[in-house]
Amino acid sequence: MSTVVARAPAKVNVHLAVGPLRQDGFHELRTVYLAVSLLDTVTAAPGDGLTLTVTGEGTGGRGADLVPTDRRNLVWRAAELLAVSAGVSPDATLAIDKSIPAAAGLAGGSADAAAALVALDALWGTGASRADLLALAAQLGSDVPFSLVGGVALGAGRGEQVTPVLAGTRTDWVLGIAGEGLSTPAVYGELDRLRAAGQVPGGADPAAADPVLAALRSGPPAALAAAMSNDLQAPALALRPGLGRALRAATEAGAVAALVSGSGPTVAALADDERHASRMAAELAGTGVFRTVATVHGPVPGARLAS
Ligand code: C5P
Repeated sequence: MSTVVARAPAKVNVHLAVGPLRQDGFHELRTVYLAVSLLDTVTAAPGDGLTLTVTGEGTGGRGADLVPTDRRNLVWRAAELLAVSAGVSPDATLAIDKSIPAAAGLAGGSADAAAALVALDALWGTGASRADLLALAAQLGSDVPFSLVGGVALGAGRGEQVTPVLAGTRTDWVLGIAGEGLSTPAVYGELDRLRAAGQVPGGADPAAADPVLAALRSGPPAALAAAMSNDLQAPALALRPGLGRALRAATEAGAVAALVSGSGPTVAALADDERHASRMAAELAGTGVFRTVATVHGPVPGARLAS
């Protein structure tokens, strides 16, 4: 096999209920993941040892710290993990082309890792089963299994236990990236602090995912809007007060609803349809509130080889 290309999507947590902090430092959660049409590309070619290059969205300047080209990059660790588990030598020339902004609450790093697993499985002919890849993905990060699965899925445990869900309806969104990246552990830590201080309620109701799933199956957007929620929104807002302005801008631009994606700082603004999303994106791009504005739709498939 010469060169292999794989792509993987960004995600939005349409519902994110965060439970208590566990002994292992993670929070128990129930989430509804939606894979959206913003894709990173990983190219794997034969090599001598591992090399990694990164191009695209946010990789220049300060981005160089957010998307490293060594073992700190999840793609590097994915390659090492797959090589060890398959008993092959970790030889590959890897290139990531990013469209998904880093540290934005969109699981861009997880998407890259999932795409790398799929690409390297093909390059090395390791013949890993879906279950093998999912187990490796779970070791790499809480969101990596979902990046493999894509579509719509219920996430449990620390997020790594994914159950695919049939989703009937297409949903259209505008993603607005507000300011610099936010650290996921910092946002979870701020939630614990706010809860300890009694400033936000604790322990979310796991059953609250049901209306979200029903709305994703049959619509309309207003039903989804009424059901969406994210426990990490309050701590993200506490750490980044400007996010409040970004959410307001999305609502004022006509979003059916707007919420922070994952640990932020991306604002996901739900649209009625594709045309509405385009109009909203043009308006939001003109506000100066967002660093990047993109229209996307979901659900889309998880990591897979490019045809
Ligand atoms: O699994 P991942 O590497 O994406 O997690 C990054 C960090 O986010 C963890 O080290 C933890 O601080 C926090 N986290 C959490 N509970 C989760 C997932 C992530 O506290 N369910």
